[in-house]
Amino acid sequence: MRFTKLSLFCELGIICLVLINAGWCAVFERKVCQGTNFKLAPLGHPDDHYRAMVRMYSNCTVVLENLEITYVQEYHDLSFLKSIEEVRGYVLIGVNNIDVIPLENLRLIRGHSLFEDRYALNVLLNNNRNESSKNTNGLRELRLRSLTEILKGGVKIVHNPFLCNVETIQWLDIVEHGSYVHVSREIGAQCRPCDSGCYSGSCWAPGPENCQTLTRLSCAEQCSRRCKGPKPIDCCNEHCAAGCTGPQPTDCLACRDFQDDGACKDSCPPLMLYDPINYQLVPNPNGKYSFGDTCVKQCPHNFVVTDNACVRSCGSNMQEVEENGIITCKKCEGLCPKVCNGLGTGELVNTIAVNATNIDSFINCTKINGHITIMQMTFKGDVHTNTPSMDPAKLDYFKTVKEISGYLLIRDWPKHLKSLSAFENLEIIRGRTKLQSTIGFAALNIPHLEHLGLRSLKEISDGDVVVRNNPQLCYTDGSYWTKLFRSEQQRIRTGNNAAPHICVQQNSTCDSMCGDEGCWGPGPSMCVFCQHVSRRGCCVSHCNLLNGDPREYMSDNVCLACDPQCKALNGTASCHGPGADQCTECAHFKDGTHCVAQCAHKVQGPNNRLVWMYPDKSRQCQPCHANCTHGCSGPGLHGCEPKGSCLCPVDQSANDNEQLSS
Ligand SMILES: *[C@@H]1O[C@H](CO)[C@@H](O)[C@H](O)[C@H]1NC(C)=O
Ligand SMILES: *[C@@H]1O[C@H](CO)[C@@H](O)[C@H](O)[C@H]1NC(C)=O
Ligand SMILES: *[C@@H]1O[C@H](CO)[C@@H](O)[C@H](O)[C@H]1NC(C)=O
Ligand SMILES: *[C@@H]1O[C@H](CO)[C@@H](O)[C@H](O)[C@H]1NC(C)=O
Ligand SMILES: *[C@@H]1O[C@H](CO)[C@@H](O)[C@H](O)[C@H]1NC(C)=O
Ligand SMILES: *[C@@H]1O[C@H](CO)[C@@H](O)[C@H](O)[C@H]1NC(C)=O
Ligand SMILES: *[C@@H]1O[C@H](CO)[C@@H](O)[C@H](O)[C@H]1NC(C)=O
Repeated sequence: MRFTKLSLFCELGIICLVLINAGWCAVFERKVCQGTNFKLAPLGHPDDHYRAMVRMYSNCTVVLENLEITYVQEYHDLSFLKSIEEVRGYVLIGVNNIDVIPLENLRLIRGHSLFEDRYALNVLLNNNRNESSKNTNGLRELRLRSLTEILKGGVKIVHNPFLCNVETIQWLDIVEHGSYVHVSREIGAQCRPCDSGCYSGSCWAPGPENCQTLTRLSCAEQCSRRCKGPKPIDCCNEHCAAGCTGPQPTDCLACRDFQDDGACKDSCPPLMLYDPINYQLVPNPNGKYSFGDTCVKQCPHNFVVTDNACVRSCGSNMQEVEENGIITCKKCEGLCPKVCNGLGTGELVNTIAVNATNIDSFINCTKINGHITIMQMTFKGDVHTNTPSMDPAKLDYFKTVKEISGYLLIRDWPKHLKSLSAFENLEIIRGRTKLQSTIGFAALNIPHLEHLGLRSLKEISDGDVVVRNNPQLCYTDGSYWTKLFRSEQQRIRTGNNAAPHICVQQNSTCDSMCGDEGCWGPGPSMCVFCQHVSRRGCCVSHCNLLNGDPREYMSDNVCLACDPQCKALNGTASCHGPGADQCTECAHFKDGTHCVAQCAHKVQGPNNRLVWMYPDKSRQCQPCHANCTHGCSGPGLHGCEPKGSCLCPVDQSANDNEQLSS
């Protein structure tokens, strides 16, 4: 029978429908809740704390973070804990004044996060601390009767003067080998013994229903991990966690890694498969994303797709990009875009200048919405607004900025800086707000400024440019300003800068590699345009097309390196574009159209079958015969390595009795 399932994820109140297949439907429902990370901190009155727990855990099956049960009083009802079956982080039961913790259906603690860096199950200080009361309230029964596996982390059960029976538990059946187990035997607790029917006398509490269920220590030798009984036929599938009801991967109580359509697996089916006939990756019609410990056909609403998984947010250096209605993570080129408020916007709406109080808000910004003004007050501070002086080194925060939507005004600058180097990566000044309604960029009255150094500036969309009264400033006479302008009205106003003949005398002229448009300062990295070609922002005479290291190709007068997998050729171009599929010849091996360092060890082929690869005489990667089980050195079943490691006899007539094993 073909089973098809409709999964229902209820995450933080959002209900996500994930249709896994169409057809006959069974409903598989698990409510997921977030859990907490408060440790033993009291959160207000115990009753408020209790109500927060009820809200968090009612009807919850899987706790994504930690399950923390703390400050419960004897009159609180904890029956809502009975729905919990799995905790991904740790379990903490601490400082409670209640007899029984009824976590009766908790099977598995994954221990993705641990208490005190080593404990996954923690039962601490569950006694009544009210000295004046004769009351002997405190935890007596830890009814964890379904708990059979802790995947990571140890156990700490201390300072519970009334707790019974836990010292009988065989922890080695539950925790991984080598985990810390710290269970103190309390003196003075009046306890009833385990039921006489409990296997090897271990139980969580009195009564036959509270006996410990062993799923590892009692297994037959043949079992790889867990079992449901002592016979070899009782072994669980290797992908099961906690235990099982039968031998199949569909019979697990929980999955160690991933759950796909009811079966436990070590990974979700890949989204792409290698097609060994056409040498390319092709979409796998059965591919799935991993979502927590579940394989899903589509990521739930509001989750971001990355590689093979659904995640809450992209990792560092990645940004969310929407393509065809799917939000995916893409690696940022350089710093990820970050838009910040400039002066005149948001919290800086009434701020006159960049200063020590606001400079930190410009860290990592790539785009500034608003304008930027640097003036004396910036560095000196201001007593009226209680602004301290600013460390000039902090100007370097502007090195990440590529765009300013308003204007840029420089009226003061640190003595030791000869150029506006803090803005060397600024590409565009939009001039949407202008100084005195006319100015987009101004550098005024800076006695020691020698060159502007705005080497990345490509556009000033609106507003005039005013560069005046900078007595040492050279390189201002180029025709470049007009190339940056985008409107007819824009004007350049210069005056009282260093005299052109003085600049020539002191060699403050553009590098010979620069084009006629001029430059922003000395050297081949300051050219507005290159005379010839450029490499990594520097003007050079030619690209390394036929010699030099690394070999390059040319695109729009820019020299770009060939892929390292291309062979460096003499007398002819080594590549004609980026990437390992644009090489003229390969340095090592060729897999389809791509140059590679090694043929892939093995690739996933159709029907989820692994296909091995080998390099042929012309160093082209070829698929091994599909029946080779350990790789090959040549084509056909004869090429299988080690010899005879194929699924079927090479030549049945040669030796009928020979049993070839894999
Ligand atoms: C828990 O589930 C029951 C039955 O489905 C429902 O009546 C109840 O309102 C749920 N409680 C919460 C807090 O969601
Ligand atoms: C301690 O117990 C006494 C008597 O039962 C009670 O009046 C008092 O409020 C308790 N104190 C605390 C801090 O719970
Ligand atoms: C310095 O920045 C703070 C915060 O933006 C602002 O409140 C203050 O007015 C500024 N001082 C000057 C002199 O601009
Ligand atoms: C700035 O970016 C760097 C590198 O991505 C990061 O390590 C740092 O935490 C960021 N700082 C701020 C304040 O955003
Ligand atoms: C300017 O450059 C020329 C040629 O490179 C050199 O001879 C001269 O000494 C330089 N002058 C100054 C002031 O550096
Ligand atoms: C290219 O020339 C260099 C230097 O003459 C030599 O070392 C290298 O082996 C040559 N490469 C090829 C592919 O001929
Ligand atoms: C390859 O293995 C399959 C499955 O074991 C078998 O049916 C098939 O005959 C084998 N092919 C060859 C050429 O031996």
